[in-house]
Amino acid sequence: MPVDVILGLQWGDEGKGKIVDYLADKYSVVCRFQGGPNAGHTLYINGEKIVLHTIPSGIFRENVVNIIGNGVVLDPVTLNHEIGEIASLVPDLHERLMISDKTQLILPTHRWIDIASEAAKGKEKIGSTLRGIGPCYMDKTGRNGLRVGDLFSPNWENDYRSLKEKHLIFLRQFPEVEFNLNQHETEWFKSIEDLKRIKVIQAEYFLHEKLRNGENIMAEGAQGTMLDVDHGTYPFVTSSNTITAGVCTGLGLAPKHIQRVIGIAKAYCTRVGSGPFPSELQDEVGERLRKAGHEFGSTTGRPRRCGWLDLVQLRYSVILNGVTDLCITKVDILNDFEKVCMTTSYETANGRIEHVPFNWKDIHSVHNIELPGWNQDISGCHNYNHLPKALKGFLDQIQTHCQTPVSLLSTGPEREQLIFG
Ligand code: GDP
Ligand code: IMO
Ligand code: MG
Repeated sequence: MPVDVILGLQWGDEGKGKIVDYLADKYSVVCRFQGGPNAGHTLYINGEKIVLHTIPSGIFRENVVNIIGNGVVLDPVTLNHEIGEIASLVPDLHERLMISDKTQLILPTHRWIDIASEAAKGKEKIGSTLRGIGPCYMDKTGRNGLRVGDLFSPNWENDYRSLKEKHLIFLRQFPEVEFNLNQHETEWFKSIEDLKRIKVIQAEYFLHEKLRNGENIMAEGAQGTMLDVDHGTYPFVTSSNTITAGVCTGLGLAPKHIQRVIGIAKAYCTRVGSGPFPSELQDEVGERLRKAGHEFGSTTGRPRRCGWLDLVQLRYSVILNGVTDLCITKVDILNDFEKVCMTTSYETANGRIEHVPFNWKDIHSVHNIELPGWNQDISGCHNYNHLPKALKGFLDQIQTHCQTPVSLLSTGPEREQLIFG
């Protein structure tokens, strides 16, 4: 039986958490395959807002096992806080949350390096969430990392100390930044004891057995396609493969098992942190989108940059991920807009282009098409046929450009505010 993938097609925060939570009850297992506590996935459970950073968004569905995969970088302190926050809502959490033995651990000094290296970059900073993501993935590919499975070997604390020593030497190259290592270490070691109470498994075998038994698996992406370390707006990206390909390496699943790829895009674009954003609106329309969409980071609270939906960028993401179904979220945020725009090409020194260039600085400006807004509240629409004509036109443009059906439409933050196409 198949593995379905749900991931973001823009710069993150597309509303993945809500969609994963909604669809999770059709699966036996929900897995995170990359990223770490840089993610902030918002769900509403019985009207209560919950933001998950590390735990997969299937955790609120009874009978669903949730796995933190080997492609994830895990901060035990964040995980511990998260477990504390949802413990009363998920009394059987320890039966349904499991971690791959190959998941990499974020050390306190990874966070310190993240802070110091970002501070040293000055204006060129990436706008990292400062959760230690980049330094931890550097240690993983540099073959220095500490993995969850290592915690069960008698000498792991020596390995911890020698990695910490390397980090302290590495930190000497940066100007000093404030970081209370003792305090962070105390909390980290305390959290490690709690982490050891969570079931640690060989996730690749576990998932293989599930597939053999005919059960369905969902892979939940974090960040978004434009933050992919290979294909995103490099170097203003995160340090993992956020695209469908990351599912295979991040969980130990063979490509042949992947069936549906549900790509999530907001009805407009947002980006938090620095880096290219061709359709960005640095005017009152951008401000209006930010206000209407409450566009402030779920992890850091930073204001998100806003702009119109970018069909050039979206088509690129659809291609990279092999998207079979599009899910458009936050359409309700455009309810009051008299007109809505979409970017359909970029202007460069060599003329108009309809593809993403190697060098994003080549883009001087964008060309937009303007469509009539639907100018009405859509909270009463519960099926596709009842949608306003202008909204159907908006969705048609997306489908035509991306050559992919819009199968899901999200019309509000609550679990049930979804329309199937
Ligand atoms: P994620 O990281 O992709 O899971 O997205 P975030 O949780 O960071 O940001 C999405 C925000 O939009 C959250 O506050 C959600 O509650 C909210 N949201 C998701 N879908 C919708 C929608 O269709 N309409 C509205 N108004 N809000 C939504
Ligand atoms: P979710 O899963 C939005 C951005 C950061 C920064 C860049 C690198 O909630 O969609 P990092 O901390 O990874 O070194 O930061 O990536 N970023 C996100 N932006 N949503 C996220 O996750 C993000 N995770 C990282 O703002 O620009
Ligand atoms: Mg988010």
